Amino acid sequence: MFTGMLHTHVLVVSLFLILYLVKTFLLVIGKHDTLDKFSKKTKVAEMIISTLFFLTGIYLAIYSGQRGAWLWVKLFVIACSIPLAVIAFKKKHNASALLSLMFLVYAYGISETKTPFMSDNKPFETGNLQGVEAGKAIFDAKCQQCHGADGTLKLSGAKDLTASTLSRDEKIAVVMNGKNAMMSYKKQLTQQQIEDVVAYVETLKSK
Ligand code: HEC
Repeated sequence: MFTGMLHTHVLVVSLFLILYLVKTFLLVIGKHDTLDKFSKKTKVAEMIISTLFFLTGIYLAIYSGQRGAWLWVKLFVIACSIPLAVIAFKKKHNASALLSLMFLVYAYGISETKTPFMSDNKPFETGNLQGVEAGKAIFDAKCQQCHGADGTLKLSGAKDLTASTLSRDEKIAVVMNGKNAMMSYKKQLTQQQIEDVVAYVETLKSK
């Protein structure tokens, strides 16, 4: 369910951005008549897209295992972009349209990286812990909010790790590259740390 919502959200947000880009472009190059015609033609589509945008967004915000400061910043930025967009197209005001577009693109960047600074390069410190012990520390800090301390919580569409049929290498690939709601840990964890956390995940099985 969550994964389906996530895909729907990404799809409608992409459609919304395309519509918005076309309208902003028409506004900025001064084709106001074409803009009005285009807006009229796409009015119903835009209403459906915006409604789906909000409904899926609210669902994801409620059921997401990753409600950090980034989510509030994102919601705030989107909330700011709406009145700007309304003013922009009503009053044919270029600067408002561009500013609103920047807000939307910034919100998109925040969602991708899950941080308001759009960079997730902060390495994780495991101190002198090693192997499975380091893996457990990483798991508790980074993974359990979706997978639960024992790996069986399935928040944000996460899989039950105790029932995983993936091989060790396949698990490493999921952690490296991310999948659906799960982000990539390539930048936050070293190769060794990823191997350690997967070694810990392997111990959750068959208990
Ligand atoms: C934001 C929530 C979230 C966080 C945090 C998260 N995961 Fe996931 N994880 C998921 C989701 C969602 C899936 C299912 C992806 C899919 O197949 O659609 C998943 C799948 C997996 C899988 C594959 C399971 C299978 O059998 O397909 C592994 C292994 C895994 N996660 C390990 C981890 C580890 C290790 C961490 C911490 C470094 C972590 N996850 C952090 C959400 C999360």
